Amino acid sequence: LASIEFDLSGIEVGQSVTIKWRGLPVFVRNRTPEEIAEAKAVPMSDLKDPATDEQRTKPGHEQWLIMIANCTHLGCIPVGDSGDYNGWACPCHGSQFDTAGRIRKGPAPTNLVLPPYEFISDTLVKIG
Ligand code: FES
Repeated sequence: LASIEFDLSGIEVGQSVTIKWRGLPVFVRNRTPEEIAEAKAVPMSDLKDPATDEQRTKPGHEQWLIMIANCTHLGCIPVGDSGDYNGWACPCHGSQFDTAGRIRKGPAPTNLVLPPYEFISDTLVKIG
């Protein structure tokens, strides 16, 4: 169905934007090296919904985190650059997500959902 192409070149390191795909908000974050290192350092045993950082990103494009922006609890939009895990915190019931968008605390049952996407080039991504 509807896919979109999105140009990443305007997003600075450490910056996030929210775009729309099929009516859903999608976070696109250009992660800092520190955020990536932090995500990679988390032991799988600390995770409620275990997934490696590699499983959350695309090879060769690991700085880009692209996720549907609805909390997996009841759908609110988590706030970026916040929470105990330096990632996202949901204002509705307190779920917290790390720098790979993985659930770390609170009632959300799973990690933030990854949409289907692929890189067309280093600066162009196709979502859907
Ligand atoms: Fe996010 Fe409930 S909707 S914690």
